[in-house]
Amino acid sequence: MPLLPPGPTPWPLPARHIHNFTESSVVNVRNTVRQYTGNVVRKMMFSRRYFGEGRKDGGPGLEEEEHVNSLFTTLAYLYVFSPSDYLPCLRVFDLDGHEKMVKEALRIINKHHDPIVDERIIQWRNGEKKEVEDILDVFITISDTKGKPLLSVEEIKAQLIELMIEIVDNPAHAAEWAMAEMINQPEIMQKAVEEIDRVVGKDRLVQESDIAQLKYVKACAREALRLHPIAPFNVPHVSMADAVVAGYFIPKGSHVLLSRVGLGRNPRVWEEPLKFKPERHMNDEVVDLAEPELRFISFSTGRRGCPGTALGTALTVTLLARLLQCFSWSVPPNQDQIDLTESMNDLFLAKPLHAHAKPRLHASMYGN
Ligand code: HEM
Repeated sequence: MPLLPPGPTPWPLPARHIHNFTESSVVNVRNTVRQYTGNVVRKMMFSRRYFGEGRKDGGPGLEEEEHVNSLFTTLAYLYVFSPSDYLPCLRVFDLDGHEKMVKEALRIINKHHDPIVDERIIQWRNGEKKEVEDILDVFITISDTKGKPLLSVEEIKAQLIELMIEIVDNPAHAAEWAMAEMINQPEIMQKAVEEIDRVVGKDRLVQESDIAQLKYVKACAREALRLHPIAPFNVPHVSMADAVVAGYFIPKGSHVLLSRVGLGRNPRVWEEPLKFKPERHMNDEVVDLAEPELRFISFSTGRRGCPGTALGTALTVTLLARLLQCFSWSVPPNQDQIDLTESMNDLFLAKPLHAHAKPRLHASMYGN
């Protein structure tokens, strides 16, 4: 069963959005991939791509921009160190200002979500709505064996935000880094494009059902996740029992922080660890984005591992494959290479990726 929302929307968006920008030729890839995942997530949750009407040229409107930016702001603070996590008595002072920033981001997100959620709840209550069509409907209608709703209104709203944060970030981050690395190594990009042309052709867009056959494209996405994790550490956990891991004793109650960079760039595991080399994954019989052996962390593993592995894979590979299928990409004029310097504050590219895009497909392919 397909995991991505059905119908042509919102999938061709990067294509349509960029196509309308090709007059200026240079595309802000970061913005494009983030708006793409934002569109997908809104479509999955609310059955709509935009809150407003979007822009006339097919790109996101101001509402969508601020929605996605606020989701990324909230996410950034998920990983940030805060003394009040360890000394809760300091929380009231909000010494680092984190709480203020997150509250503001949540205010913006809720400003967009609340009217949709409230209206939908009324529609279900007064019988106007009868069919479950998206995740919001699932959250409203889910009930226990006695028919009692399982989620309160507050819980529905919180769950929507939680899921959105989990979905928008990693696919966009992996696609941006993969594109940056591949533009600097055009032979890798060429190989991926040839695979897409062979498997899919140029008369239709890449679909979720093609993913199994796009082994090299998946290797590129996997390599981006290995070399460029979204955060230096995995989400913090607390151990529930004494344990011995790799010879180390970890007492019950320890805060466990796995270094994603330490694992993915470990020279004892990966040859030339700092080099973007998708070929290293091609010997695997099946190339997957998941890495249950934890030689690097993509979706992690175990009971707290990511529950969205299949959807995350579909989203990431479809996004990357469509960018490659729809456009020929190169370094912007007056630049020799894409600057791959990491930001000082996180593991994003220091400067959002800008690249030159030239359409590869017939103009009719860039419609809705
Ligand atoms: C390429 C895409 C994705 C990547 C790389 C990714 C990665 C991760 C990682 C590393 C974790 C933390 C696991 C841990 O704490 O050990 C996580 C947690 C989680 N992810 Fe994903 N994820 C992706 C997409 C998704 C999608 C599409 C969904 C939505 C269905 C999702 C839902 C979640 C949730 C709900 C958690 C929290 C689980 C918990 O705390 O028990 N993720 N993800």
